[in-house]
Amino acid sequence: MTAPLRIALAGLGTVGSGVIRLINENGAMIAQRAGRPISIVAVSARDRNRDRGVDLSPYKWVDDMDALAAEPDVDCVVEMVGGSDGPALTLARNSLSHGKSFVTANKAMIAHHGMELALLAESKGISLKYEAAVAGGIPVIKGIRDGASANRIERVYGILNGTSNYILTTMEKHGSDFDSVLKDAQNLGYAEADPGFDIDGVDAAHKLAILAALSFGTEVDFDGVEVAGIRGIMSADIGQAKALGYRIRLLGMARMDGGKLFQRVNAYLVPESHPLAHIEGSTNAVVAEGNYSGRLMFQGAGAGDGPTASAVVADIIDIARNDGGTVFSMPADKMVKGGRAESGNRTGRSYIRFVVADKPGVLAEITAAMRDAQVSIESMIQTEKTNEGSVLISMVTHESLERDVTQGLEKLANSSSLQGDPVVMHLLSDED
Ligand SMILES: NC(=O)c1ccc[n+]([C@@H]2O[C@H](COP(=O)([O-])OP(=O)(O)OC[C@H]3O[C@@H](n4cnc5c(N)ncnc54)[C@H](OP(=O)(O)O)[C@@H]3O)[C@@H](O)[C@H]2O)c1
Repeated sequence: MTAPLRIALAGLGTVGSGVIRLINENGAMIAQRAGRPISIVAVSARDRNRDRGVDLSPYKWVDDMDALAAEPDVDCVVEMVGGSDGPALTLARNSLSHGKSFVTANKAMIAHHGMELALLAESKGISLKYEAAVAGGIPVIKGIRDGASANRIERVYGILNGTSNYILTTMEKHGSDFDSVLKDAQNLGYAEADPGFDIDGVDAAHKLAILAALSFGTEVDFDGVEVAGIRGIMSADIGQAKALGYRIRLLGMARMDGGKLFQRVNAYLVPESHPLAHIEGSTNAVVAEGNYSGRLMFQGAGAGDGPTASAVVADIIDIARNDGGTVFSMPADKMVKGGRAESGNRTGRSYIRFVVADKPGVLAEITAAMRDAQVSIESMIQTEKTNEGSVLISMVTHESLERDVTQGLEKLANSSSLQGDPVVMHLLSDED
């Protein structure tokens, strides 16, 4: 057997301690598969005295995480700290500059700085790997970069945030409202005390921007993702969707549209016949549609110490095997700027829900605004009064331009009948 791959771990929290446990437990088998052992030589975190449930005594402790980049006995640095900028980014830049391969679980950093880091890694001829950054334990980066590499990917989309999916599917199961499910999820540790990144769609947008770059050969463009979360969704919406044969899921959706990149995170009505409608709880699922492979679906745990460690160590094994390759699916200096497709030009059916005052003429006001904007309504339901005495009106449009729907809603923006902003969700179809 050849010399071990010597790795340094930065960050010993959920993911970092999972990586140590996995390497300790499966090390002998991994050495056989990789052709050489993986040897942890140095570790770093903030608090040296914290009990992490793993024995750190065999490893050199380094107080200043950034010093790992220059450690002479280290071949590969593994970053499990987090944050798009700050110490994680400094460590990535310095490790690659020192010629060390780099593995990260950090979606925010790859979404914001992936191009810069990929160019740096490729200019040095070393690996930068990030399987754990998208959908945790699911090998979707490898699946698209390697397994589907012969295909033109038509679109890539999926359930990319476990917390949001847990909330939506719990609301679906128990008919409970958003706030109480979020509070329960926080008490159970499924949602962060500050859940914004998850429920406002930002975390899913990080992952979507990475998947889009990988799928279409376009530069990572996080700022080009249209992002909306799930805070506004009521249990009545879930009931209406069900009555129409749909389930509500927060999806990341990306495709090329007239040569430009379309990227969106939003709640969609997913037909019950689609496999994504059956993804429950905190599970993630990614669909990639290749022009020869057809629909591929990758499903599994999107977070947690075990699944995420599994993805991190798979990257480390690739490096031990010298299975290099490009960071994305083509050399970073050949990736193109995608440009941004205008969502207003897209056509589709939309679900729109209003909360309105219980007074005569409101329905007529809404239908007139939609008619004036050239949006034709396929169905419309007025539900019972809420506790506050308001009425919910839900409608589904026929195929319409999204720009026209927006225009219809703008006509209603100053209406005294509306209580709060309407919620708009698209119905997932083959054309999205
Ligand atoms: N958790 C998941 O299921 C999951 C799934 C996929 C991807 N990820 C990604 O994996 C990364 C790590 O997540 P995590 O859940 O493991 O986070 P975590 O439990 O909060 O652990 C973060 C670790 O980083 C250390 N750290 C923070 N700032 C540091 C600094 N300035 N210098 C040195 N060490 C520092 C912390 O040290 P102390 O322990 O001493 O405070 C801690 O050990 C993030 O990028 C996250 O997005 C996580």
